[in-house]
Amino acid sequence: MRRPEESAAQAVPKATVALRRMVPADLEPVMAVERRAFKHPWSEELFRRELEHEWSTILVAEKPGPCIVGFIIYWSVHDELHILNVATEPAERRQGIARCLLTECVARGRTKGAALATLEVRKSNVAAIKLYETFGFRSVGIRPNYYADEGEDAIVMLMDL
Ligand SMILES: CC(C)(COP(=O)(O)OP(=O)(O)OC[C@H]1O[C@@H](n2cnc3c(N)ncnc32)[C@H](O)[C@@H]1OP(=O)(O)O)[C@@H](O)C(=O)NCCC(=O)NCCS
Repeated sequence: MRRPEESAAQAVPKATVALRRMVPADLEPVMAVERRAFKHPWSEELFRRELEHEWSTILVAEKPGPCIVGFIIYWSVHDELHILNVATEPAERRQGIARCLLTECVARGRTKGAALATLEVRKSNVAAIKLYETFGFRSVGIRPNYYADEGEDAIVMLMDL
């Protein structure tokens, strides 16, 4: 039987994007996407730190131009893939960009021997929850008041790879 994210990945993307690892020179366009995507964006300093961690990967999605229209940040530790952040430029949404990024992240995780993927998502973030569910992530718990900014609960989601 096909895994859910394989059928998601096989859907014809409406947008053609190239995926590659983020480099320090991408900081400005990535921060622009981050600021437009989140009410409480990460700081530049946090992105810089992620670029330095050996266990952390940031993949960017680029449209011809070139123009960065999305990114995903994940950690690869032992047999676990932990997804920290994924975002698509507001004007470029519902074109399959986050799906492409997540598909690539999961594929790279499997290649590295990851057996499990985990993430936390705001309880109110319907779009992200739907995206993760199409990949086969399931809710396994709640972290109350996880997001300090607004005291919102996080849903913990997990997927066997
Ligand atoms: C969540 C987010 C990354 C999705 O990005 P995207 O590039 O628009 O997603 P895709 O086009 O790849 O969508 C893939 C699937 O996810 C689901 N989905 C995505 N956005 C959705 C929405 N607004 N409502 C319902 N389902 C949605 C759908 O199943 C969609 O497939 P479909 O378009 O064929 O129906 C984007 O909305 C975003 O950047 N949000 C702000 C940042 C954020 O909240 N990130 C998540 C942090 S945990």
